[in-house]
Parts: sequence; C-alpha cells; structure tokens
Amino acid sequence: MVETIQWIDDSVVLIDQTRLPLEEKYIACHSYLEVAAAIREMVIRGAPAIGVAAAMGVALGVLRANEENLDAQVNTICDTLAKTRPTAVNLFWAIERMRRLYQRLRGKPIAEIRKWMIEEARLVREEDIAICRAIGHNGAALVPDHSTVLTHCNAGALATAGYGTALGVIRAAVEAGKQVSVFADETRPFLQGARLTVWELQQDGIPTTLITDNMAGHFLKSGRIACVLVGADRIAANGDVANKVGTYTVAVLAKENAVPFFVAAPISTLDLTLASGERIPIEQRAAAEVTHVFGRAVAPAGTTVENPAFDVTPAQYVTAIITEKGVAHPPYEESLRLLAGSRL
Ligand code: MRU
Repeated sequence: MVETIQWIDDSVVLIDQTRLPLEEKYIACHSYLEVAAAIREMVIRGAPAIGVAAAMGVALGVLRANEENLDAQVNTICDTLAKTRPTAVNLFWAIERMRRLYQRLRGKPIAEIRKWMIEEARLVREEDIAICRAIGHNGAALVPDHSTVLTHCNAGALATAGYGTALGVIRAAVEAGKQVSVFADETRPFLQGARLTVWELQQDGIPTTLITDNMAGHFLKSGRIACVLVGADRIAANGDVANKVGTYTVAVLAKENAVPFFVAAPISTLDLTLASGERIPIEQRAAAEVTHVFGRAVAPAGTTVENPAFDVTPAQYVTAIITEKGVAHPPYEESLRLLAGSRL
C-alpha cells in the first residue's frame, strides 16, 4: 500500500500527488509553512489526508517554534494551516484537536510539549488508517459479489493516511472474497480519478475502467453499475454531502436509474453544527485548472471560467452513509447524531 504521509526524522514526508501517475516522488516538509503550501497546492489532498497533514503541520510548527511567545506562535501556526483549503472539515477538526492538546500542555517544559504534540500527530495518522479499515469492514456487505462499482474523484489510500474510505469499502469487499470491478470517473479538472484512483487500484490488481465524467449517466442507465461509492469532504447534520464537484450529477443520475448511492466517510467529516449543506463553504480554484491540461491550453486565451472544487449532494439522493461506527440511513438527522455520539 502506498505511504501517503509519514512523520520521518522530524519532517513530514508526502507522496507528491500532483506528479502521479507519471512520477512517484516523495517530498519532505521541514516547516509548517511547507506543509501549508503542500495542502494548498494539492501535493496532498483528500479530506482525511489533509486532516493528518494539518495535525503534523501543527506538530512541526511547535517543534521549530521558539520558547518565547509560544502561545502566539501556536495561534499563527493553526491559523495559517486553517486558511489552506475551506471545504474539508477534517482540516479544522485536526487543527482543533492539536490546539486543545496544546492548551492542556501549556506551562510544561517545551521539550515535553513538543514530544506530546508529535505523538498526537502520529496518532491522528494511525487512527485514520484504523478508521478506514473499520469503514471498509462496515461497508463491504453493501457491495454485491460479481459487481461493478462507480466512483468519483479519489477517496482511496492517497486521500487518507492509508486504505481509503470509498476505495476502502471496495478493498474490504475484495478481501472478503468478492469479485468487484470499478468504473472510475476521470474527475475533471484535477483528474483525481484518472491519475490517482486508477493508479492505486491497479497496484491492488482490482479491475478498473476509466471513463470521462460525462459518460457516468450512460453507464448508470446501462444496468452495469451495482452501486456508486464516493467519499465526502463535509457532511451536514441532515445528511447533505459536500464532495468533489460532479458528485451531485452522479447522485441524481444514480437515483433516476435506481442505483444505490453510498457515501463513505469518517465521523470527523461530519459537521453537525451545520443544519444543511447550504452553508458549506465551497472552494473556488484557479481558472487555469479548467483552461489548461498539463500546462497546455485547451480553451482560448481570456476565456471566462468558474471552478468550484466541490458541490453539495442533497441527502435525498444518498442511500446510506458508511462510517467507522456503522452505517447511517435516512433520516440522517437522527442516524448521524446517534453514530457521532456512540462509542467505537
Ligand atoms: O480536491 P480534493 O482532491 O482534495 O477532493 C477530494 C475529494 O473530494 C474526496 O472525494 C474527499 O476528500 C473524500 S477523500 C476520502
């Protein structure tokens, strides 16, 4: 399994996802500012993975901070990391977890503070892998034997500390002895499906067919797709799901064709402070991602562009939400709160 993010020799080591699949290159971040840049530039991406990166970024910041004015420095570190990307709530969840730990450690010798902050960041990573395995275990039964699953974006090992959420469910079904193949939407404009999902599923020997995003409706109508499995960046209390732009289109087409639409995500992706998905902040990214492909223009100069990185799928299109604590069914107002409050 690919190593997405690790803490090695007091640095944060990431596989550079902007270069995959053409190049398998690892970069080492030696400062929290380098971690922040890696998140912003999508060297690391995917909601759980950027949560782990943020936790490690805070730890790295504290490791390199001076003893004087530590409180102010921790605030700056956390605020800087929090400004990298707005949609995935896991980022803010991880920063808050690190901030709370710092509050508890305040006043202790700096060496001890550093040690525990690093320890906590490593724990966030380890827990994420365990959580993905639990999501996989809980979701595997929903994937029929001898079936084809449609997925959008990359919600795999690369989007987490390992194993994946949506792809974790597929992996767990395969590990349980089922024959499962995957249709992967290429996921314009950043091509997470083509570049990342296909790459990591190929490594596992899971048969994968790449389609362009506009083919999804055709295949959902064909009867060849047993279910759709996607990840999430933020899930509101009513079950509305923010995920990679294009997810909403797939969800509507799935419902129209009576194909179950499953979302796989850790509890840390729930944002129960939001009653619905209406107020989930949607990241707007650079126009060049749409007008250019691998640095080459595919549209005339001066083209007006919209580039929202995410969309919100209303809960009415979501058949079930698979978490590490169990599977939530509608009405989500009740089922998500129950799962969030329950013990693992
Ligand atoms: O812009 P990205 O690549 O960070 O978007 C990622 C997604 O939309 C994933 O589907 C989501 O984060 C879930 S990852 C387990």
